[in-house]
Amino acid sequence: MDTPNLFTPLQLGSITLPNRILMPPLTRMRARMPGNLPWELNAEYYRQRASAGLIITEGAPVSPRGHGYYHTPGIHTEAQAEGWKRVTEAVHDAGGRIFIQLWHVGRQSHNDLQPNGEAPVAPSAIAGVGQAYVAPGAQPDYPVPRALSRREIADTVEEFRRGAQRAKQAGFDGVELHGANGYLIEQFLSDRSNHRTDEYGGSVARRTRFLLEVTEAVASVWQPDRIGVRLSPANTFGGGAPSDRWGTFTHVVRELNRLGLAYLHFVEPRVAGNLDLAQFDDALSSRHFKPLLAGNTQLISAGGHTFDSGQAAVASGEADAVAFGRAFIANPDLPHRFAAGAPLNRYQRETFYGGAAAGYTDYPTLQPVAENVPA
Ligand SMILES: Cc1cc2nc3c(=O)[nH]c(=O)nc-3n(C[C@H](O)[C@H](O)[C@H](O)COP(=O)(O)O)c2cc1C
Repeated sequence: MDTPNLFTPLQLGSITLPNRILMPPLTRMRARMPGNLPWELNAEYYRQRASAGLIITEGAPVSPRGHGYYHTPGIHTEAQAEGWKRVTEAVHDAGGRIFIQLWHVGRQSHNDLQPNGEAPVAPSAIAGVGQAYVAPGAQPDYPVPRALSRREIADTVEEFRRGAQRAKQAGFDGVELHGANGYLIEQFLSDRSNHRTDEYGGSVARRTRFLLEVTEAVASVWQPDRIGVRLSPANTFGGGAPSDRWGTFTHVVRELNRLGLAYLHFVEPRVAGNLDLAQFDDALSSRHFKPLLAGNTQLISAGGHTFDSGQAAVASGEADAVAFGRAFIANPDLPHRFAAGAPLNRYQRETFYGGAAAGYTDYPTLQPVAENVPA
């Protein structure tokens, strides 16, 4: 086979992507309120970006307790599923493919975002490091969370399963589990945030149990070849990284290998959340995990990529596809711009979170989106 590049089609599980330029999950906090509903504005934003090989939506909380940012669109009510249907229809009508990221923030939340003003939930009562976005201009520190009971863990797994079911009802092509960036799944994986003494804590095998139960629950709704998992082995966001990162994440990859998933989506060490890092541990780059992936599970690399680094990663086989986050925020027609060698619009950080069309659906394209499918 010829050396692949970013414009080479890719078989990702059971769907065929026309290119390997992916849009990763990007929280934009523009759901319609009340009800945290996806609506026409969101449908227009995603429609504009339908030339991506695959769109993975912003994190969509599977539970009222899973929200850690205001105005994030959930996937835990019927009305939200109806709202997402508009999004999937818009993307499909424009010729695109779209997965939803299933999310639970765990301790990275605040009482003001929780049902009845309760404390957020987590594997253990240990606070994360950082701030919740509770309202425009209000970013209090994460409080000390409440440890989930075993019964509540089972309920949370069930919430992921129901979220997966609603995602199906909403017309998505598949689902991605948010196992990255310090949120609930990663809180279970890390010995720093998980001090449990039951079967969900202690050894790495026990700390991985929650992720595996969630993945298996979701796989009771979707075929494994429609499921991806996002991981961030080098993550610093949220302040709870495991002490043995390589040991933890190689175990996770080996366990997930047994499920035959469509892909694992790695966040590269050079970014933390939405920020670039000057210093990072290259030993935790996705290319070191690539040889461990089994079967047809593909590797997506995200974080700090340029067109050239993406081309190099795909050509060398270090990654099967590459996600471009901030570049897709500012360039709805990113594949076309890459193909044309055209300059990119610069992103505006101040409009990342919250607001309306400004900085969201008003970034200019080079030509009408419908014509943006690269050859
Ligand atoms: C505004 C913004 C929101 C983000 N929201 C999410 C999210 O909901 N889920 C997630 O897994 N990552 C999220 N990320 C991380 C991105 O998916 C991606 O890993 C990061 O932007 C690094 O890629 P880039 O250098 O191409 O932008 C977000 C990043 C940004 C800039």
